[in-house]
Amino acid sequence: MKKFFIFAIILTMLSLQDIAAQSLEGYRAINLKEEFTDNAFTFFSRAPILLSGDKTAHNAMTIGWGSLGNYLGYNRLTVSVYVAPARYTYEFMERYPRFTIMEFDDEQVAQYMGSHSGRDGDKAAALGLHVAYTPSGTPYYTEAKTVIECEIITAFHQQEGDFRSDTPRNFYDRFSAGIHAVYIGEVIGAWKK
Ligand SMILES: Cc1cc2nc3c(=O)[nH]c(=O)nc-3n(C[C@H](O)[C@H](O)[C@H](O)COP(=O)(O)O)c2cc1C
Repeated sequence: MKKFFIFAIILTMLSLQDIAAQSLEGYRAINLKEEFTDNAFTFFSRAPILLSGDKTAHNAMTIGWGSLGNYLGYNRLTVSVYVAPARYTYEFMERYPRFTIMEFDDEQVAQYMGSHSGRDGDKAAALGLHVAYTPSGTPYYTEAKTVIECEIITAFHQQEGDFRSDTPRNFYDRFSAGIHAVYIGEVIGAWKK
């Protein structure tokens, strides 16, 4: 009996540690599969923010394209994003293993992050955003109302020869930032305010 109680206490301590490790101050951890009531087809049209980097360096930009789904397992939830090589954020996506996707109430954030480059100055500082880090060390902004943290599991660097229809050919004929690379990120954390 005594052994059982010791075992139960250890189990409780371990799961409390787990909860603490998953917590972000001021946020509630959410289970996307059960609590994400958003429409995957419209989520990206609200222009979320993609932030890549670590505690030493990071950069964010607005994204309008992406996919929410799964890959390599029904319960392996994924967020895919498309980043043009000319973006400063591209350099971070190539270098760092994780990224966050965030939503903000303030529309100014998407406008500014989508029309300025981090090469010309710290966009977050200009907007008065504060950076913090998930338990895995991935940056996010504390002003975000939703934070989804992903670990990149694979990336595709498309070439013109990969196109299967005229749609990308016609698009890239008049687009100068290069062919978007596709990053599939496995969701490793999600939080809401
Ligand atoms: C609404 C909106 C959606 C955008 N979506 C994308 C996108 O999905 N992929 C991309 O590469 N650029 C996208 N951009 C462009 C980048 O956000 C923009 O070029 C930004 O200034 C790049 O910043 P950076 O150089 O600091 O990375 C979008 C811009 C806006 C305004």
